[in-house]
Amino acid sequence: LASTEVDLSQIQPGQSIKAIYRKQPLFVRHLTAEEIAAANKVATDTLRDPQTLADRTKPGKEQWLVTLGVCTHLGCVPLGAAEGENKGEFGGYFCPCHGSHYDSAGRIRKGPAPKNLEVPDYAFRSDTVIEVG
Ligand code: FES
Repeated sequence: LASTEVDLSQIQPGQSIKAIYRKQPLFVRHLTAEEIAAANKVATDTLRDPQTLADRTKPGKEQWLVTLGVCTHLGCVPLGAAEGENKGEFGGYFCPCHGSHYDSAGRIRKGPAPKNLEVPDYAFRSDTVIEVG
């Protein structure tokens, strides 16, 4: 299956984009320093699907959060990847189908979804380009 390249150079801190990867939505988010701090402050053992931000990002690149844009409940596309959309109560993504709230690391924090937003296989090809898949 084909991989997808995403150019990060135009994504400012606090912004995210939607791309398509294997016919599914892909969210790429440039976290702000505040969002990184908020994600790192959470006690991981209190989480439904315990993962740190570092578990979900690449070493030295923790400002880049790459996830599928597919709610782990029943597969709706969460809001929060586009300007002005509802990011939910934890400042990440919000799935309006049944009210799942994900935090700035894409971790499930409230609502029926059982798992964090999935992080696909990807690698940095340069400082500003990732290859997903
Ligand atoms: Fe997202 Fe149900 S599909 S909350």
